[in-house]
Amino acid sequence: MNDCILISGGAGFIGSHVVRLFVTKYPETLILNVDKLTYAGNLKNLSDIENRKNYKFLKADIVDPEEMKRIIRENKVTGIIHLAAESHVDRSISDPFTFAKTNVLGTLSLLAAAKEFWETLPEKYEDKLFYHVSTDEVYGALEITTPEGGQAPFRTSASSENNVAYGTDFFVEETKYDPHSPYSASKASSDHFVRAYHDTYGLPTIITNCSNNYGPYQFPEKLIPLFINNILNNKPLPVYGKGENVRDWLYVEDHARAIDLIFHKGKPGETYNIGGFNEWRNIDLIKTIIKTVDRLTGKPEGSSNHLITFVTDRPGHDMRYAIDSRKLQRELGWEPSLQFEEGIEKTVKWYLDNPEWVNEITSGNYQQYYEQMYKNR
Ligand code: NAD
Ligand code: TYD
Repeated sequence: MNDCILISGGAGFIGSHVVRLFVTKYPETLILNVDKLTYAGNLKNLSDIENRKNYKFLKADIVDPEEMKRIIRENKVTGIIHLAAESHVDRSISDPFTFAKTNVLGTLSLLAAAKEFWETLPEKYEDKLFYHVSTDEVYGALEITTPEGGQAPFRTSASSENNVAYGTDFFVEETKYDPHSPYSASKASSDHFVRAYHDTYGLPTIITNCSNNYGPYQFPEKLIPLFINNILNNKPLPVYGKGENVRDWLYVEDHARAIDLIFHKGKPGETYNIGGFNEWRNIDLIKTIIKTVDRLTGKPEGSSNHLITFVTDRPGHDMRYAIDSRKLQRELGWEPSLQFEEGIEKTVKWYLDNPEWVNEITSGNYQQYYEQMYKNR
């Protein structure tokens, strides 16, 4: 093998799509998946590629700096794509310490391990890259200035047919960080450490901040898979507040393709925003999910609308996220491949076709956690 790319969090939702893409596309590169296998990590996400000769899995905790140093040294790692994190805002509200530990200390320990190993090499940082996967949530929240959605100024192939924008401002790479949830605060802090390693030690780093992802293998605690699963099981759909919050949705494989492009063609030291100009108010998105699930299960469209249940709002609930990804489009020619309505259809079909994956992951433990979370509200 020529190179070794360490992908942290490769057994999670986005990580598994990145691992699959890299293992398939780069047969001469060893893809090393380092994952602790928390509740969110599942090796079944990768069962189709686990026997490939350029794939290796190591169960390890990124928070352990000595373990990270050993793994990076022993495998002669040449590049890192860092996705491992605690990723769910609601969990961060009940358990902020775990988020600080994994997201901040875990990132720091990977940075330190990469620096230490690469500095021992004769060529040092040449052809090395630490790619940090972050979120648009670090930028805080945008206002909704057009409640029904105004004309969207930009489109991509991911934009919905009825693409609208709920405000005139968007997150750009220069937007000042203003995180509100413990999750986004921990991701913002990890981004700062990545920049500090670049500016202080010259470590070649790239940060990307992506909007909300959806697609196969997403753990059913996040909005889209949770609601698909609940509709299929005739369970209530807990809509926070009035359902007016806006999120900007991107199909996960388009995120993975963006990561591939930026990893290979992006400029070290730079930040790129990733998003498809595809804003949706939660309540409208939920009605679209309901229609799609109803249609694909042979029911009249909208017959599951009665499951919609408005519940107490999430504390500190960010109103609107909207990414401006024109830098990535302009500089590297990235364009999402899938239009939103197609992506939702594909996603719902995947969850319908994989009930055993969902059943296994929504185990008793997970349900208990979920019920407890609501009790504490
Ligand atoms: P996920 O929760 O599905 O997966 C996280 C993975 O990290 C799991 O496999 C888990 O086992 C692993 N992990 C957690 N703690 C670890 C530790 N201490 N050591 C090693 N592995 C550990 O998350 P995701 O949704 O796939 O997100 C991946 C990354 O992308 C995160 O950094 C997240 O902040 C970022 N991101 C996510 C979204 C989104 O919409 N999901 C959007 C933008 C950015
Ligand atoms: P989520 O999928 O948790 O992503 P994030 O909070 O990172 O954007 O939530 C997406 C939106 O859906 C967010 O505005 C919160 C809302 N939401 C609900 O209304 N009900 C739910 O049960 C969940 C999980 C989310």
